[in-house]
Amino acid sequence: MAPAPPPTPPTSPRWGLRLSSVAGVAAVLIAAFQFQQQGSFSIAAKDESIYCYEGVKTEALPSSQGDNNCFGVSLATGEFTRVFERSSSGDSSIEIRKGYVLPGLWDGHGHLMQYGEFLHSADLFGAGSFEEIRRRLRGYLDLNPGVGTRDRWARGVGWDQMALGGMPTAEQLELDERLKGRYLMLDRVDVHCTWVSQAILDLLPDDIPDVPGGEIIRTPGMGVFCDNAMDIVTSLWPRPNTATKQEFVKSAMKELHKVGLVGMHDAGVFPSDIALYNEMSDTEDWTLRVYAMLECAERNTYCPEDAKKIEHPHGIFTVRSVKLFADGALGSRGSALLEPYTDAPSTSGSLLVNASTLTSLTKSWSGAGFQVNIHAIGDLANRYAIDAFEAAAAVSSSTEAEEAKQQHRFRIEHTQIIHPLDQSRLHKLGIIPSIQPTHATSDMAYAESRLGAERIKQEAYRMRSLLGLGLSPVLGSDFPVEPPNPFAGIYAAVARKNPATDLGAPGEEEKGWFTEEALTLEEALWGFTKGAAYGAFLENKAGVIRRGAFADWVVLDEPLEAYGVEGLRSLRVRETWVGGRRVYSRDQDAQGEKEDKDSIGGGDL
Ligand SMILES: *[C@@H]1O[C@H](CO)[C@@H](O)[C@H](O)[C@H]1NC(C)=O
Ligand SMILES: [Zn+2]
Repeated sequence: MAPAPPPTPPTSPRWGLRLSSVAGVAAVLIAAFQFQQQGSFSIAAKDESIYCYEGVKTEALPSSQGDNNCFGVSLATGEFTRVFERSSSGDSSIEIRKGYVLPGLWDGHGHLMQYGEFLHSADLFGAGSFEEIRRRLRGYLDLNPGVGTRDRWARGVGWDQMALGGMPTAEQLELDERLKGRYLMLDRVDVHCTWVSQAILDLLPDDIPDVPGGEIIRTPGMGVFCDNAMDIVTSLWPRPNTATKQEFVKSAMKELHKVGLVGMHDAGVFPSDIALYNEMSDTEDWTLRVYAMLECAERNTYCPEDAKKIEHPHGIFTVRSVKLFADGALGSRGSALLEPYTDAPSTSGSLLVNASTLTSLTKSWSGAGFQVNIHAIGDLANRYAIDAFEAAAAVSSSTEAEEAKQQHRFRIEHTQIIHPLDQSRLHKLGIIPSIQPTHATSDMAYAESRLGAERIKQEAYRMRSLLGLGLSPVLGSDFPVEPPNPFAGIYAAVARKNPATDLGAPGEEEKGWFTEEALTLEEALWGFTKGAAYGAFLENKAGVIRRGAFADWVVLDEPLEAYGVEGLRSLRVRETWVGGRRVYSRDQDAQGEKEDKDSIGGGDL
């Protein structure tokens, strides 16, 4: 028998505050109707909806919770009211919905606006030649008339000079008649470099001096600007207006729900975008939980005038942390290393900020009550980040060490190459590593040539080594740098193989890359649920199905364990729910938008 449609109220009560009195009455009426339908189920509260599934996994690494397959959801608060087993409820009339439930998944490090922009940009990921890049750009311009002009630059992302066989130049774009004269700004796969067309170069002065903490690629020709030098071109870019940005956010949230994400940590949001998010979070368009890290308009500064903490009472939008950047990325040799690059002995990368400034910024922000999250890839950057955290924690010497850990929850974003001594310090200080498992499997092809065998073995892309006592890493994807699918991230963490290709590192494709650093399925799930929740001060509220937690869940066709490791690669989420409201349904999605509107209640999206 087909399951009945979900009992959703006619308007959105998810975030409680916006529940108008009319809607409130309607919700109660619906709940009362549902109560009637459920007959003898005597303990159903007035505003409670009951959901039973074939199975419900309430949390990763469960401790004491037994079998459960039902939970209650409060329509007023959007929270779980209770978790129980249908057979022990004494009510056999409760409908069992198809599928197996997991707690809602979180991406612990992504970029919402950039992902939305990416969805509206030319996709250059995986392009293996300049001809392929030009072909994709032609296709993009065909689909987006009016883009590529002085006022509206065409954007793209995903190129990698390693796959292209050489550093791009503006010249390469001029070779195509359709692209010639267009305004094109194309980000490298790691977003640490951007490649621009001749029309944009023509806006710059003839002699461009070098920039500290940045690189202007001058050979084989002009066109690429990295790290701090990116500002030279991005400062000229006519930025998208508010309406366009709202479209980006909406597209991004919709796409993220499709892969089971109910929330994300936005790893660097400018004050102007925080204001935009804050406004949007009061509207129907905002369906994803966002924990935003403030990034000052000027990178690596203290900007208390822009630092307003935001804690939405229903956890849909939170600002209480900042993002600082110690260095750049490994691919462009922008990450700061203790010893020179193995394949470029004359350089050891560069810091974006010196150690003393990093420490004073960390102290200032921490003193202002903000969680500090430092981007650190290279082992020098990781060392300085830990030094900064150690110094900032020492300031609050009145608190016990354990209390200080809880209070600060300092995070290192990426924690990619970290010296063994600093791995120990990280554990000791209770610093949270924020890791992207797919970065390891994307970088494994070239990481060893950059770092050499020894550093790879002892320092790079740790996961298991960074599992702490009760503290798992926060796991994420860094979307749009990597695809946002958390099951791909779980696969990469467990198999240490590339989820797109199913292969390990070149030469050893059959086996995972340094599998001694692999996580178990449960540990990886932890990182995308409870680990991410802890890293955002949302433990017991997010990433878990229990009374009082946000009523967020994901429905799969099978229990997670039943897919097997290889099955994770093709796993497709069936439904995603946020705050007791369905935000994605695979079946509805397949039937198209119109059907969507006709057949599901107004509470669904
Ligand atoms: C660190 O950088 C700041 C700001 O650029 C500068 O004022 C300071 O002198 C630098 N300190 C050291 C030790 O280089
Ligand atoms: Zn990032």
